[in-house]
Amino acid sequence: MKKKTYEYLFYKVRGASKEEIIQNAKLTEAEYEELEGSCIEQIKEIQADRQKAEDIGPEFVRLTRYLYGKTSAQQEGVRRPNAIKSIAGESIALPAVGTLEKPAISLWDAINNRRSTRQYSDEPLTMEELSFLLWASFWARDFKTSARHEFTMRNVPSAGARHPLECYLMINRVVGIKPGLYHYHPIKHMLVRLERDEDIANQVHEAAMGQEMVAKSAVTFIVSAIPERTSWRYSQRAYRYFYLDAGHVGQNISLACEAIGAGACMIGAYQDEAMDEVIGVDGKDEFVIYAFSVGKKPLRS
Ligand SMILES: Cc1cc2nc3c(=O)[nH]c(=O)nc-3n(C[C@H](O)[C@H](O)[C@H](O)COP(=O)(O)O)c2cc1C
Repeated sequence: MKKKTYEYLFYKVRGASKEEIIQNAKLTEAEYEELEGSCIEQIKEIQADRQKAEDIGPEFVRLTRYLYGKTSAQQEGVRRPNAIKSIAGESIALPAVGTLEKPAISLWDAINNRRSTRQYSDEPLTMEELSFLLWASFWARDFKTSARHEFTMRNVPSAGARHPLECYLMINRVVGIKPGLYHYHPIKHMLVRLERDEDIANQVHEAAMGQEMVAKSAVTFIVSAIPERTSWRYSQRAYRYFYLDAGHVGQNISLACEAIGAGACMIGAYQDEAMDEVIGVDGKDEFVIYAFSVGKKPLRS
């Protein structure tokens, strides 16, 4: 969805006046009139759903209790989903996990020193450091596949070892890697470059509600979920698990950052439609659920 359309809808469904919408969404009069004509159905839909949305939280928790669960797709004999998403494109091998230096920092210090870090120095990450962060978060140490089952085992837990999360990286400053958007392959431990507009970094920054640390980061991790991987086994209850899984990933990234003189900030405030569009997913079969900005800590004087 185009930014202007999104902003028009945002203010329109909240009952803003024409003048307010033109001002807040930075529209011309002609753009406003065009959106008035083309968004009629969308507005009706959003307005109807906004009432439903008012108490969706407690309803979601209630209706995803086991009491309400149905026979899962797995129990019904539906073919297992793939455990891995592979995207074709120019690939960049990361330093192999076996070659990485083990950090000297103690677990105590890593936990004790962790803070949300929103200011970064200009120092880039090395490819070894990026490889280390990915080892801690998305790397698959094992992969098993058969007609009935397919799963990975990783350094983070995941409900039923379903590992529904995908990792996209907005790389701004990593030695030896051209800035741009990448997808991480957890078995091959490599990045695949995604062809995007020149201003992709700005698009990510805007999608993250203009939060400054995203623009300043060496790397921003964008985490999406592929619901089918987990709902195949757990039906609707799976939707509880994506977010729990993502929390483990975020904490491992935060602690691993401490080991390399970097810091991370978890990001839950982003515009869903824009972030989904940035990584090229439909918001239903795959959607963004989390992001983390990462960079070297500024030197203290
Ligand atoms: C799920 C989640 C979402 C968050 N989203 C944001 C965010 O969008 N922007 C931001 O600046 N901080 C965000 N934070 C960071 C919190 O503000 C931060 O963890 C909290 O203030 C406690 O500070 P500390 O992490 O330094 O202990 C988020 C943290 C979590 C766990």
